[in-house]
Amino acid sequence: MRILGIETSCDETAAAIVDDGTFVRSCVISSQRQKFSTLGGVIPEDAAREQVLCMLPVLKKCLEESGDTPESIDAIAVTKGPGLLGSLLVGTTTARTLAMLWKKPLIGVHHTLGHLSSIWLCDNAQPGTRNQPFDQAQDRQPIFPILTLSASGGHTDLWHRTSHTRGSLLGSTRDDAAGEAFDKGAKLLGLPYPGGPSIAKAGESGDAHAHEFPLPLRNDPSLDFSFSGLKTALRYTIQKLGAETEQLKAQSSKLKANLAASYQYAICAHLIDRIIRALHRHPDIREVHLVGGVSANIYLRSALHTAMHLQPATCNLALRHPSKISYCTDNAAMIAAAAEFLVRECAEKAYESFETTASIPLAMAIATRKREA
Ligand code: KG4
Ligand code: ZN
Repeated sequence: MRILGIETSCDETAAAIVDDGTFVRSCVISSQRQKFSTLGGVIPEDAAREQVLCMLPVLKKCLEESGDTPESIDAIAVTKGPGLLGSLLVGTTTARTLAMLWKKPLIGVHHTLGHLSSIWLCDNAQPGTRNQPFDQAQDRQPIFPILTLSASGGHTDLWHRTSHTRGSLLGSTRDDAAGEAFDKGAKLLGLPYPGGPSIAKAGESGDAHAHEFPLPLRNDPSLDFSFSGLKTALRYTIQKLGAETEQLKAQSSKLKANLAASYQYAICAHLIDRIIRALHRHPDIREVHLVGGVSANIYLRSALHTAMHLQPATCNLALRHPSKISYCTDNAAMIAAAAEFLVRECAEKAYESFETTASIPLAMAIATRKREA
């Protein structure tokens, strides 16, 4: 199928056209990152107002880039939630209107299912796989069960997946999301929003072991996450060092670099600890996927790769992340991809009418919630 995807769950306005859940024909994002970078976060009303202005130009550019017309598109997919309600409504109202005008089926997609599907996106066909959907290409068959960590600014979930749309939730965060921990830490360090990229950059020249932060839930047998203690530990460390915000604002500060590197190390150590525990408990798992904004973190990718290769039980598993950084963070191509998999695996559910909701759990076609005791 050729699907037009629309995503407006946070501060971005995004549209993309994707073939067969894999091949990205065009992917356009208008981001308000610059505007919110000094504010420490997104102001929902401002974001939605801007999205109303950006939505049609973004759609026009998306169609121009791919050379598509309404006739060449098979269906329209849109993020139905969770996210900022005003922002979501801009996307869903646009998608509903287009579906009616162009007489196309409409598919409502859960934002997290979009992230889970982002792993299959690619810009160009690989040699020998041209025009072949990713999971039908002989060299890249997806091998389920897959363990997926989806970590963004709004959620941190660990999934055991038996197909694109079926699986069970092994653990999730009890407080802040991993991306939120980066964002709040950046604010404490006087670094711009979003915190993930700015902490990663500030920490490049720092010593990751200069400051020790406790490993969260070390003795907790669940596969849940908790990040709020790390953020508090960072605040106390800054206070104890007597570091003033002004001192931290100095771009070249060695102190800031060490704090950023140590804090990034602590967040990643917690994520990796839970992934390795899950792999030991679920020896049936064949692949490990990192998705969501936090999967853009290069240190996380390489540290997980190293941790998996240190152990015989995990060293032969494939580790994948989205093929581009822009497919890790919010985008519309992942929404179009998820819609394709919903249609393939549960067509009736895919075309059900839906409500736009700020907060909805991801009941993957399945999801009997299985909590690890
Ligand atoms: O998936 P996403 O774009 O939006 C949500 O669904 O929330 O994720 C955004 C989050 C932000 O919290 C941001 O700080 C984090 O992803 N992020 C990163 C990196 N790039 C973005 N975290 C760590 N390292 C990065 N390089
Ligand atoms: Zn997201």
